Amino acid sequence: MDFNLSEEHEAVQQAARDFAQNDLLPGVIERDNAQKFDPTLLQRLGDLGFLGMMVSPEYGGGGMDTVSYAIAIEEISKIDASASVIMSVNNSLVCWGLEKYGNEDQKQRYLTRLAAGEIIGAFCLSEPEAGSDATSQHTIAEDKGDYYLLNGTKNWITNGNTASVYLVMAQTYPEKGHRGINCLIVEKGWEGFSVGKKEDKMGIRASDTHSLMFSDVKVPKENRIGEDGLGFKFAMGTLNGGRIGIAAQALGIAAGAYELALAYAQERKSFGKPIFEHQAVQFKLADMATRIEAARLLVYKAARLKDEGKEYVKAAAMAKLYASDVAMWATTEAVQVHGGYGYVKEYHVERLMRDAKITQIYEGTSEIQKLVIARELLK
Ligand code: CAA
Repeated sequence: MDFNLSEEHEAVQQAARDFAQNDLLPGVIERDNAQKFDPTLLQRLGDLGFLGMMVSPEYGGGGMDTVSYAIAIEEISKIDASASVIMSVNNSLVCWGLEKYGNEDQKQRYLTRLAAGEIIGAFCLSEPEAGSDATSQHTIAEDKGDYYLLNGTKNWITNGNTASVYLVMAQTYPEKGHRGINCLIVEKGWEGFSVGKKEDKMGIRASDTHSLMFSDVKVPKENRIGEDGLGFKFAMGTLNGGRIGIAAQALGIAAGAYELALAYAQERKSFGKPIFEHQAVQFKLADMATRIEAARLLVYKAARLKDEGKEYVKAAAMAKLYASDVAMWATTEAVQVHGGYGYVKEYHVERLMRDAKITQIYEGTSEIQKLVIARELLK
């Protein structure tokens, strides 16, 4: 066991920290209010290599490991969780999925541009009636010979309008259940494909979340990922890694709130001394630091297992389950340490508290993570 970061990991950490402080921090409150991510920041994310971190250099990516990716997500999430979810979906659900399961032609046509940040991707699994129950897909991809006819609706799609490329899960053989699902690559602008309403969210408000409608969209057969019926396996396999990204996001949100609370507790005085000198506040910060460190170990362990080619499904689910609970708890405590200031936007912790909640929901709710862990226990 080596608990130290390598020099490469430290360099990634510093680069992500600098980017978050210099580029993301100014304007983060305004972006949250406006519910809009700045396109020039998206461009910066791409230019700095944060949108295709784990993609092989052969396809224009950074060729980095999952630990580096988790470290970068953590640092960026300390400041701006909207930026990190854009990054997380593009890196782990779209690029990683395409590189692992896509064919050479698909990689050349899509992955290279996605990895460079020239275009952004979205992962489209959830439906009005298929959230946790993801096998219950009502979007239909009817086999028409050399193309699929796609019909249906997707909900809560991150990067819904920012994206240009969409990985869409759809049912081709309803009688086969989840084994009849395919994953199709759909491009924005194709006839019959429209982006629906933008959700007005509690948190991660600068990232755009939309419903998507498909009405008789013709998707060429060469845009199916993997063999016929691989779609659900593709989605599950991709989400297993994606959950490490969301766990790292939760960790970053928690750590960001903790760092703000620690600094504030040393500045703010009450009863004639900095509030840090009150034991009630010390205990809060000690508990926060301890739980955040435990979450970090779980996140890094899951990432390391994945990098070593070992089984990581359970570790990823545990990391997400625990880190998201720590994020919700630690951000609430950080608001409490800030008192009245914590309740206003200027001090950032209220935003982090709102941002934390989604980490217990997307890429599998906490309840689904427990189900995944419990099933793995029996293996
Ligand atoms: N890894 C790999 N394979 C898995 C898997 C996993 N974690 N979980 C299930 N599978 C496989 C099973 O082995 C099975 O395959 P076979 O039939 O070949 O054996 C198949 O998937 C179906 O599994 P189950 O029979 O266990 O199906 P189920 O309906 O009982 O449970 C589920 C499935 C685990 C609950 C699944 O539906 C699930 O993960 N739900 C949560 C969905 C989710 O995470 N959604 C997030 C949306 S994306 C998002 O949030 C992105 C964003 O915008 C940020």
